[in-house]
Amino acid sequence: MNGQSGTFSGKIAVVTGGSAGIGLATARMIAEGGGTVYITGRDADRVAAVAASIPGDVVGVPADSASAEDLDRLFARVRERSGRLDVLVANAAAIVPAPLGSITTEIITTVFGVNIAGTIMTVQKALPLFADGGAVVLVGSMAAHKASRGQSVYAASKAGVRALARTWALELSSRRIRVNVVSPGPTDTPAITQLVPDDEARKAFFSRMGAGTPMTRAGTAEEAAAVIAFVASAAASHVNGADYHVDGGYGQV
Ligand SMILES: NC(=O)c1ccc[n+]([C@@H]2O[C@H](COP(=O)([O-])OP(=O)(O)OC[C@H]3O[C@@H](n4cnc5c(N)ncnc54)[C@H](OP(=O)(O)O)[C@@H]3O)[C@@H](O)[C@H]2O)c1
Repeated sequence: MNGQSGTFSGKIAVVTGGSAGIGLATARMIAEGGGTVYITGRDADRVAAVAASIPGDVVGVPADSASAEDLDRLFARVRERSGRLDVLVANAAAIVPAPLGSITTEIITTVFGVNIAGTIMTVQKALPLFADGGAVVLVGSMAAHKASRGQSVYAASKAGVRALARTWALELSSRRIRVNVVSPGPTDTPAITQLVPDDEARKAFFSRMGAGTPMTRAGTAEEAAAVIAFVASAAASHVNGADYHVDGGYGQV
């Protein structure tokens, strides 16, 4: 059903961090489903190239989710071109591993600046544009639910994302705006390539993470995106305040 022609027909969507990985796969699915999609990322050239490469009505807006000015520019563009917003996927995140003992205030500021302050500002600044009956999807992480060495700051930020969704689902219910979280487990995206650039080391990383899942493998960006697209679609019209784990069972057994 996701990505099927017509699922997002006439809908206006924003996917932050839509120029790579899970965000890119999500943007592609919404566009395939007939929606207009605005994608962001900090690298302006990549945002433009990716927007041009996705068939459909896809607009690239270079924007850093940690920057209030960039977010203002993003939503001004949506307002001027589309006039409203139906779906917001707050996906952009900072992933900075730091074992306890090596955590700096810069790392905390960076991670919380994007994952918490950035998520709050993204949703808050989108609100005036939001059509009643819209859907907000926050991309969380299984790191919020299951420990992973070196990930305490990131995990804390993603636990915060889950908490934001609960409160906002309540606060936005009068406007029939649903707010949900989708929490991927280990997923093969450029984020992981960046953290573990060596091919052999990355294979070993995924096989170690996969060994702990009933499905014995990492997920793909498309598998996470399919659940994000479902939660954002009318098929999930009675799903609110929830947290969908897309982790091959990693955190479930
Ligand atoms: N991959 C995993 O194993 C995994 C597991 C659990 C949760 N997640 C979550 O899934 C989401 C997507 O991760 P991913 O693995 O798809 O990452 P990715 O492959 O690194 O892609 C990240 C995307 O976000 C953009 N981005 C990064 N920082 C940004 C910022 N400050 N403002 C705007 N855009 C920004 C990147 O473009 P620029 O670099 O040009 O800005 C890129 O388009 C994140 O919320 C992450 O925490 C991922």
